[in-house]
Amino acid sequence: MTNSQKHLDAVYRAKSAEELAAVYNDWSESYDDDLTALGHGAPTAVIALVCRHVAPDAGPLLDCGAGTGRLGQWLSWFGYGPITGIDISDGMLAKARQRDAYAKLRKMALGDHLDFPDRSFATAVAAGVFTAQHAPAESFEEICRVVRPGGQVVFSIRCDEDKGETYLAKADELEARGIWRREGECAVYPVFAEVPEKAHITNQVLAYRLL
Ligand SMILES: C[S@@+](CC[C@H](N)C(=O)[O-])C[C@H]1O[C@@H](n2cnc3c(N)ncnc32)[C@H](O)[C@@H]1O
Repeated sequence: MTNSQKHLDAVYRAKSAEELAAVYNDWSESYDDDLTALGHGAPTAVIALVCRHVAPDAGPLLDCGAGTGRLGQWLSWFGYGPITGIDISDGMLAKARQRDAYAKLRKMALGDHLDFPDRSFATAVAAGVFTAQHAPAESFEEICRVVRPGGQVVFSIRCDEDKGETYLAKADELEARGIWRREGECAVYPVFAEVPEKAHITNQVLAYRLL
């Protein structure tokens, strides 16, 4: 088994946020190279939907589960920002700090209270975070609190397992409550298209506007 597949399997086996953070701390040094080797060089689909739905001058952007900062890096190159990143892993945050992309990077857990005032951001994005053993669907509540009305939330969800339904059900509930409205999505796509044994892992990216 390759190093990247060992870490990937450990991520999906983590039994607590602490265990997951430890896996990412351990993986942070080789994460970017490993993901590239798995055919996942950048969170392209999230970048694409942000560029389709959000104007670069929209204002402050929150990158939820920023990891090593690949998404923030690309969005900064496309003119978005200022960008704040949050993550549960010190190791991943340390790698993100090496990029010249983020105005702020803070250790914070989706699913807990987010330490930002109401309506702090014009946009929130998340790539690879709404997936098994990662951020819970309830995180959407706090994300909606810190994004201003008229702002956008663009995120990927994992689709090939029951948890995808949980995220969609919570998103639908927020839509029924008049909190946000879905404005776009892409097709369901294979995340690791180049790796036959991982070809079953699929994502979809969704874009919502706060009401
Ligand atoms: C698959 S990586 C994606 C990183 C980055 N968004 C990217 O696309 O490269 C998932 C990241 O989410 C973080 N994470 C997992 N659960 C989280 C939570 N509840 N709150 C905040 N970050 C979390 C992990 O530490 C990890 O850095």
